[in-house]
Amino acid sequence: MKLILLGAPGAGKGTQAARISAALGIPAISTGDIIRSAIKTGSPLGLELKSYTDKGALVPDELVVALLQDRLKDADCENGYILDGFPRTIEQAKFLDRAVHIDRVVNIVVEDEVIVRRMGGRRFCPTCHATFHTVYSKPQVEGICDHCKAPLTIRDDDKPETVLHRLKVYHDQTEPLEAHYADIMLSVDGTRDVEVIASEILEGLKA
Ligand code: AP5
Repeated sequence: MKLILLGAPGAGKGTQAARISAALGIPAISTGDIIRSAIKTGSPLGLELKSYTDKGALVPDELVVALLQDRLKDADCENGYILDGFPRTIEQAKFLDRAVHIDRVVNIVVEDEVIVRRMGGRRFCPTCHATFHTVYSKPQVEGICDHCKAPLTIRDDDKPETVLHRLKVYHDQTEPLEAHYADIMLSVDGTRDVEVIASEILEGLKA
């Protein structure tokens, strides 16, 4: 199965992608994680990517498409995958339309005010990319990743002013994709308990 997770920054795409991936046995591919890994290398490409993410702007379509194309060649993508954070523009959606057949799109709906509150508490594992929250999804040991025991960090683009800009970019450039995928889209209320949302998504995908 090939899935897309749509939703605003902080809607819970990464959180749900991890659960769907475990349940369906297909990889979750986050273009945000791919970009952050490239930034960590300190390469010229990484520095260029950082100049966009630091501002909360989208990385140009041609760069992000090339990064995704590389990742989709990996053997673990043979039986399907979950795309978390791609596509984000109509141009990226057109690339996917030409390249692959997408089975379903899950749209996680959360109001902006809830997102702004959530982002302040997000903690991120720079090693295995797991996501936690200081209130809603606490790690077993404060500040330490449950999975790989690395110290958790705060993402550079989670500063309040950057979050507001990312929300504006989402409404301007990504929200129009809801119309593009209306025929295959399952919308879920992303303001409830994480496990309740995951069950609803998995049930919806069976239908
Ligand atoms: P990316 O990493 O994709 O960021 P994003 O889409 O802005 O989404 P987030 O990762 O911030 O949030 P999420 O929806 O995954 O929520 P999460 O599960 O973490 O992209 C970063 C940047 O890279 C972009 O700004 C752009 O510059 C660039 N980029 C990436 N892809 C691109 C593309 N295709 N084209 C161009 N540029 C691209 O949850 C958030 C928090 O809430 C966590 O703390 C979590 O624990 C908590 N939480 C989750 N669910 C719940 C719940 N139900 N209740 C309470 N708390 C919850």
